[in-house]
Amino acid sequence: MIPESFVQEVLARVDIVDLIERHVPLKKGGANYSACCPFHNEKSPSFTVSPTKQFYHCFGCGAHGTAIGFLIEYAGVSFPDAIKELAQQVGLQVPEEERPDPARQAQSQSLLEITARAAKFYREQLKISPKAIDYLKSRGLTGEIAARYGIGYAPEGWQGLRSVFGEQYEQPALVEGGLVITNDTGRRYDRFRDRVMFPIHDQRGNIIGFGGRVLGQGEPKYLNSPETPLFEKGRELYGLHQARQSIRESNTVVVTEGYMDVVALAQFGFGAAVATLGTATTATHIQKLFRQAERVVFCFDGDKAGRKAARRALEASIEHLADDRAVRFLFLPAEHDPDSYIREEGLVAFQRALNEATPLTDFLLRELRGDLDLSTAEGRARLVFEAKDWVPRMSAPILRAQTVRSLADLAEMDVAEVERALGMEPGTKGRPAPRRLERQRVVTATRQLLRLLSARPELCLQVPDDIVLFLPDETEREVLQLLCERARSGAVISLTAMFESQSDAGLRNLIADLLTTADEEHVSEEDASEVLSDTLRALRLQAVKREIETLNKGGLNADEILKLKALFTQKKQLESGQKPPV
Ligand code: GTP
Ligand code: MN
Repeated sequence: MIPESFVQEVLARVDIVDLIERHVPLKKGGANYSACCPFHNEKSPSFTVSPTKQFYHCFGCGAHGTAIGFLIEYAGVSFPDAIKELAQQVGLQVPEEERPDPARQAQSQSLLEITARAAKFYREQLKISPKAIDYLKSRGLTGEIAARYGIGYAPEGWQGLRSVFGEQYEQPALVEGGLVITNDTGRRYDRFRDRVMFPIHDQRGNIIGFGGRVLGQGEPKYLNSPETPLFEKGRELYGLHQARQSIRESNTVVVTEGYMDVVALAQFGFGAAVATLGTATTATHIQKLFRQAERVVFCFDGDKAGRKAARRALEASIEHLADDRAVRFLFLPAEHDPDSYIREEGLVAFQRALNEATPLTDFLLRELRGDLDLSTAEGRARLVFEAKDWVPRMSAPILRAQTVRSLADLAEMDVAEVERALGMEPGTKGRPAPRRLERQRVVTATRQLLRLLSARPELCLQVPDDIVLFLPDETEREVLQLLCERARSGAVISLTAMFESQSDAGLRNLIADLLTTADEEHVSEEDASEVLSDTLRALRLQAVKREIETLNKGGLNADEILKLKALFTQKKQLESGQKPPV
């Protein structure tokens, strides 16, 4: 039995919007978020999620519940598994049944608590460290803004945190939370020493990690928490918690590259800035940003790295645009970053620059154009050729149409010609929003495959063995294998029998789902093979995209860049309907 109080604690810390967002693309509307219901088939959204009530409800099918209920219903997991998964996401450990003994209690102290205690220690240390105070002052920060961002100082010395944690300094949780490092000989020491500490908050205000800056010169300039159960860099944005109010008021969020950018902008009166955490902007970031505001402005450093970051942000945004959302890029003068810019030019100039920032489509066209000579037919043809990789992927139909028109003007072609050249059917809406489709397919392509195979077992023989590698979900993999084994052995086993022969709840749930839905897949005998190969291709494409996304999260070495290129080629092939060489 999991104590009721623990369940409550988990629910108090989990954000249902964040949880559901991972599985279903949500759209903000008023106080709530909405989506097409993941629990029934519908064309217009009647599924709503309330961040205040931490509750979801579907007006169409009546499904409703908490974050726990959502996981149970959506992922088909059991109650204890749902609790376990959610607890892990917020750094809690499910308590054991026995009466709590103090030692164990100390052990199961949550990562969140540990992180919060460390942050408090760093803040206190800042107060008594003149050199850290001087450093922050030299960077123009007031005590007020330091307090607002919870800035602290990790003192010199190898085991500063021992004074906070005492005996508990030896706990595995300190290593797991990224605060302490164990060397080869088993000796432990603080990760952060003699650094100014920027705590990283999640949206609910929990501290989930740190960035530590050297005072003055030194390598590395910034040291960040490693990825921990609490902290996933590709999801989090520095400063979002503090910026929320300003973002809401201005309906705008500015994305920078650095901690100091966010803090300095706030110092000078601009509160709606966040920063990516030393990683490229990810699709997850974009979705998160669009949940906060209708306008997103990327404001990266004026140097070469900043321009590269802008391209990555463009790449991540293009499949998430909507006609009621705007993405812009503010390119600062080469010598500036947002911090130095607002310091030198002031708030008003910064705001003016924001208002004049380059719209995404202009940036896109400028990038496509590069240094092509548009006075030649070759140059104009090349422009349209380059656009093929980008424009059809734009998920906002009206904006895409506008872009096609601009492109046509530049290329001196008419719109229909450009559309044909881009592989878009003239006059149609082009490709549907790929991201949404892909998101749903993460959930449904596998299911569609399983349903198809349940309804038409003979197709199992056409399923290549390696496809199991492309199914991220273990239960789905197992069921697929069960279905294929059944077909290969030629045995006539009903799905119901298969259901009864399994004891695992997840497997049973999935098979039950197939039992109730398999005959919904009205696929005629002639079409079956083609539907099967479409589904298989969709699965491969998802796997390739997942790999691309993973690679895109970090800095890339030469090998990884090569790999990324190969993946993009595969992606293109799959998207154009070819089967890639395996
Ligand atoms: P200041 O020099 O303090 O103004 O910082 P900055 O924000 O201008 O730094 P910079 O533009 O060099 O870096 C932007 C962001 O990249 C930082 O906020 C960090 O998140 C990350 N970063 C910078 N240097 C390092 C480093 O040496 N290691 C790691 N892991 N991340 C870094
Ligand atoms: Mn800087």
